[in-house]
Amino acid sequence: MSYPHLEERNGKKVLMVHDRPFIMLCGEAHNSNSSSVEYMEKVWDKAEALGMNSMVMPVTWELVEPEEGVFDFSGVQGLIEQARRRGKKIGFLWFGAWKNAQGYYAPEWVKTDLVRFKRAQVVKGKNFIRNEKFYGTPYTTFSYLCEETKAADAKAFAKLMAFIKEFDGEENTVITVQVENETGLMGAARENSDEADALFAGPVPQDFADYMKAHTEAMTEDVKAAVEAGAAAGSWTEVFGEVAEEIFSAYYVSSYVNAVAEAGKKIYPLPMTANCWLNKPGEQPGDYPTGGPLARVMEVWHYCAPCIDILCPDIYVPFFTKVCEDMTKLGNPLYIPECATHSYAASRQLYCIGKHHAICYSPFGFEEMGDPFTNTMMFLFGADTTDPALQTPQKVEEYCALNRMLDSMKELIAEKYGTNDLQGSCIEEGPAAFFDMGTFRINAIFESPISARKDGGCLVLKESEDTFYIIVHAAMLQYASNDPARQSLDVLALEEGQFVDGKWVRGRRFNGDEVAITSYMEPTLLKVKLFAYD
Ligand code: DGJ
Repeated sequence: MSYPHLEERNGKKVLMVHDRPFIMLCGEAHNSNSSSVEYMEKVWDKAEALGMNSMVMPVTWELVEPEEGVFDFSGVQGLIEQARRRGKKIGFLWFGAWKNAQGYYAPEWVKTDLVRFKRAQVVKGKNFIRNEKFYGTPYTTFSYLCEETKAADAKAFAKLMAFIKEFDGEENTVITVQVENETGLMGAARENSDEADALFAGPVPQDFADYMKAHTEAMTEDVKAAVEAGAAAGSWTEVFGEVAEEIFSAYYVSSYVNAVAEAGKKIYPLPMTANCWLNKPGEQPGDYPTGGPLARVMEVWHYCAPCIDILCPDIYVPFFTKVCEDMTKLGNPLYIPECATHSYAASRQLYCIGKHHAICYSPFGFEEMGDPFTNTMMFLFGADTTDPALQTPQKVEEYCALNRMLDSMKELIAEKYGTNDLQGSCIEEGPAAFFDMGTFRINAIFESPISARKDGGCLVLKESEDTFYIIVHAAMLQYASNDPARQSLDVLALEEGQFVDGKWVRGRRFNGDEVAITSYMEPTLLKVKLFAYD
């Protein structure tokens, strides 16, 4: 039996657990909850109520290595045992030197040794700045150039992976690991210490410069323009022009993260991820954590961090589908460790799995899913007020129903990854979606005069030329023939139902009015057989 790993299917990656496909229908727990196994009981209850099959949660450096060289994995063990009792899987998040572009979770012995574990100098000679864009609060983070921090962080992570391998290497409760959390530097595009200045003025490693020049095809426009215009060799500014500082930061941040990941992977090669705090339009490097694994520096991460299998977006912005498009370039699988819990949560999941063949979809702070939005939640989720749906809570029962449907057919779904036989959409892509699948076109209408709902989504799976499984939520469906010689169409069979142990078990068989009016305001799993004729 192999360890959890990624397998290529038709050009897409599928997560395999015990050699069977697994899609993480997940939630990320609030930061501090997994520090108490006891507290986590109620968090698992909520995950259960939401039909989740897994959870992502932090393991923190401060708790596993409270004194240098003294390790305590009792909490980690407790979390794994707890998940096992509930028949669920875990994606651990290693909160090492980075958490939200800061060093929150480093142990005291690291934080207090400013000489050995250097802080990033956003401003030359200073260990911290006041973040004027954030109420003037002190901002401090570890230097991405500090070898001591990297070595200590990597050592602790390797110990963690050794523990997980020993305790869980057969059962495979832990299926993925995120290395660090939202890496990067706030306040400036790069560090400004003497050391950073010297490196920045020195030559770009030639292999890296060559790689970047040879991989401009999918680069974000401004990055591409700068990289193409720059010299073939020389200093960072000469080679990368306008984006030199950002690429410099990405080079060192990703190399740091890779060193940590590599130390753990050598011991236990679970799929490893790195997540990013996204940039918003108009923001400059330093307004968002510079150097983190954003789409705009994905090429840098691919070069410097081969031990990281997936680069992941934390999506709290309203342009959700654009982020998914951007983050799936260069074959990067869609793995969303964090997104909001508002009323698009369910339909977005259908879109992510149906359209992008996602490995993981995981609303953050799912403990509160369904609760009325508080100011704190709005603050955490980026306080976007342009769309009322972003302030309307997701209905728990609906989310649960959809998760159970997806979970019951996850192997069938994963079989179709990388093919056109699996498609999906949600209202954020437009008022209607057309799924062309061979002879037939299936049309999901998210905005219609007969529905007040504006939060629909749909996933369609083609089982055979004339038969489809459809998960539909807050939408109307229409069917059409794509064959010009056979434009007439009959719905031969339309059933609602569920998968039990991988087999279709039908509920009602729809006909008459229920075939004439195909509007589904609650999550529904359908099997439909179509017939085109002349
Ligand atoms: C992003 C972080 O990665 C999470 O740990 C959490 O702090 C959320 N932001 C809160 O919105």
